[in-house]
Amino acid sequence: MASLRLGDKAPNFKAESSMGTIDLYDYLGDSWGILFSHPADFTPVCTTELGTAANFKGEFDKRNVKMLALSVDGKASHIEWIKDINEVQQTTVNFPIIADEDRKVSDLYDMIHPNADSTLTVRSVFIIAPDKTIKFTLTYPASTGRNFYELLRVIDSLQLTANHKVATPANWEHGQDVVVSPAIPTDEARELFAKGVEEVKPYLRMTPDPTA
Ligand code: BEZ
Repeated sequence: MASLRLGDKAPNFKAESSMGTIDLYDYLGDSWGILFSHPADFTPVCTTELGTAANFKGEFDKRNVKMLALSVDGKASHIEWIKDINEVQQTTVNFPIIADEDRKVSDLYDMIHPNADSTLTVRSVFIIAPDKTIKFTLTYPASTGRNFYELLRVIDSLQLTANHKVATPANWEHGQDVVVSPAIPTDEARELFAKGVEEVKPYLRMTPDPTA
């Protein structure tokens, strides 16, 4: 399977999970989605990541993002592992973990990178828009846990730029000034953005976050 790229349709699949059979498109409905892979059950970094993800579920819910994890072990293993995660991370894992024993979803989403490891998945993230297009991908090695604050920050940027003619600058966080889309001439931008436009350079125009 060739790599999935930004703008591609997220392939649908049906798979077993810790919470029953999942059809990706039915599960997502009209929501945004985040699909993230874990190398294997009962591994230390994954245990911290899944506990962190569970503790962040309220933030993903606020943004209308459905969470879906994946690991290449079976459902019974996931259920036992979830007990450990809940215990050591003082949480309740409250989203499904796909039981991808046959690697069907991992292959479909190119989550196994054989030159890194031929059996375990890398740490992939796919953010999927309500129209089922892939808006963001990320690949970390097994040895590096992901930053869930960064994933929320990316979702804030994706949702803002989907609805407004802006882009978000380096290290941007919700509420900070944003960049006017390069396609908009400055005089048009001044009409569009009631909060004002600062022309730092003809190609770099800033405006307050329109949603803040
Ligand atoms: C972990 O999740 O801790 C892990 C998994 C595979 C290799 C290294 C670390």
